[in-house]
Amino acid sequence: MKTLTLTQPDDWHLHLRDGALLSRSVNDSARQFKRALIMPNLCPPITTIAAAEAYRQRILAALVPGNDFDPLMTLYLTDTMTVETIQQAAAHPQIIAAKLYPAHATTNSAAGVSDIKHIYPLLEAMQTHGLTLCIHGEVTHGDIFDREKAFIDSTLTRLCQDFPRLRMVLEHITTQDAVDFVCAQGPQLAASITPQHLLFHRNQLLAGGIKPHFYCLPVLKRQCHQHALLKAASSGNAKFFLGSDSAPHSLDAKQSACGCAGTYSAYSALEFYAQAFASIDALDKLEAFASFHGADFYRLPRNQGQTTLVEKPWQLPEILPFGDTEVVPLAAGEPLTWQLAAKA
Ligand code: DOR
Ligand code: ZN
Repeated sequence: MKTLTLTQPDDWHLHLRDGALLSRSVNDSARQFKRALIMPNLCPPITTIAAAEAYRQRILAALVPGNDFDPLMTLYLTDTMTVETIQQAAAHPQIIAAKLYPAHATTNSAAGVSDIKHIYPLLEAMQTHGLTLCIHGEVTHGDIFDREKAFIDSTLTRLCQDFPRLRMVLEHITTQDAVDFVCAQGPQLAASITPQHLLFHRNQLLAGGIKPHFYCLPVLKRQCHQHALLKAASSGNAKFFLGSDSAPHSLDAKQSACGCAGTYSAYSALEFYAQAFASIDALDKLEAFASFHGADFYRLPRNQGQTTLVEKPWQLPEILPFGDTEVVPLAAGEPLTWQLAAKA
């Protein structure tokens, strides 16, 4: 049986929620990753240091014995956040970034930023104090398939000019345009890439019937963009790293006339990435993408432990119990080739 041993990987973009969704999702993630960067789009969002600390404690309290996991926190930027909050976050050992959600761009973003100019003083403070800006890079108008490129053209280009030393991550990139833009900028701009955007394209969402469990934001794009992302993730370029964007929504919330955006990949996130890299014969490039580039970008030590995958075909469950609700995982019921040795 073929095996692949990696330095323990990290997930640099993860939604855990609260309550029953948190109880399971944090343990699924902890079986796959050592650390994760936790997104702050709760209801209400995480906008203060105290809220981030309290949420971190709830996450740690939800871990079952034996799951060793280090949640790193983000703050949710708003029009009214103060520079003092940014200064405190930058000095906090477990808060390593702040997230820009353009208002109404995605799930729980209503309290996000209504005009980028409103947060220029915060961005100035982030640049000065070395706090990373994580970006949901979509505009909120125009064709949904073009919103990432429109954000790059209308907003990100300007941000890179106005804040040349601000460390930024363009999250969950989905297009060749994003790959090209990130490559063209200096080392202060990096990008995370999800498993769904590496493995699928928009036909999976729309051809032969609407598949709500493939609906996420940014939405899946054309296959040529999927190929561009595979190429970037496996290129060895340290600007590209793993961020699953795993986001649990209950079955009811997804299978609805107005289904929520988000796919749950945490149950098998690393295994999805292995599948994607194997599909282009690039498994030798997985470790750098999954275990080195993100830690290096955030100036954190690489993990000491190791994770082993085995080549052993298995099938994803159709549904996952989450307390009194249920979540359909990404690619439910589909076969996967690589499996965590701990699972096998
Ligand atoms: O599909 C998504 N789901 N995209 C996001 O930006 C947010 C996430 C969520 O929180 O459910
Ligand atoms: Zn996200």
